[in-house]
Amino acid sequence: MARVALVTGGQRGIGAAISEGLQAAGRTVVASYAGNDAAAKAFTDRTGIPCYKFDVADYAQCAEAIAKIEAEVGPIEILVNNAGITRDATMRKLNRDMWDAVMDTNLGSCYNLCKLVWEGMNARKFGRIVNIGSVNGQAGQYGQVNYAAAKSGIHGFTKALAQEGAKLGITVNAVAPGYVDTEMVRAVPPDVLEKIIARIPRGRLGKAEDIARGVVFLTADDADFVTGSTLSINGGQHMY
Ligand code: CAA
Repeated sequence: MARVALVTGGQRGIGAAISEGLQAAGRTVVASYAGNDAAAKAFTDRTGIPCYKFDVADYAQCAEAIAKIEAEVGPIEILVNNAGITRDATMRKLNRDMWDAVMDTNLGSCYNLCKLVWEGMNARKFGRIVNIGSVNGQAGQYGQVNYAAAKSGIHGFTKALAQEGAKLGITVNAVAPGYVDTEMVRAVPPDVLEKIIARIPRGRLGKAEDIARGVVFLTADDADFVTGSTLSINGGQHMY
């Protein structure tokens, strides 16, 4: 039986490429999404990958969704915590709601979903968890105190949980993407983005598939000796 993989935010941007990469690697993939029904339907129609709608920041919604996915599709053996948002602003304009939204969605979601699949992975003595961090969680970024804190938190979360998973057959790794050509990055003011691209030694934005390739590697059955690592995929923008 193909292993079941859940990719949060798995129907758009980097998440869609991860979902399709895992599907191509022979996994049974399900994706979660927060609100864009039209994008989810188009994604399912194109790929056959089912999409489940729930808010990854809300523990009760996650619990209900995980139970539903496991009943309808099977036990989740691969979890990719990809869902994330930005609320960029300099400190003077960064209000508490913008802080909370990013912390809850980007970092709180990792707790919610790992917590909910952990016992099952433990019982089966197999699990692959990949958390999507960011170059901006490694290096910081002007106007992203909230996002950098959440993504940096993901890197710490990953290393701590990897230590607990190691003896259980559960690997926990992070991928730290650089600037990838997605809607999120296209929302950066063009003059700012131009300066950022000028600092990427590879000379271009990343492609979503560049990130998916790393996730497929880290979730392979025979990648069991790779745990607690952060795979930077950023065109050389930051060497960590
Ligand atoms: N370094 C130094 N100064 C900077 C700066 C930088 N990198 N970026 C902006 N500034 C300065 C401007 O020059 C301006 O200065 P003056 O007032 O002296 O002219 C000032 O900051 C503007 O500050 P404001 O508070 O008025 O902010 P704003 O409303 O213009 O917006 C911003 C500021 C939100 C930071 C905006 O510049 C922005 O969106 N920057 C991009 C942030 C970014 O890279 N986000 C990444 C999104 S993609 C992602 O997150 C995916 C991933 O994982 C990589």
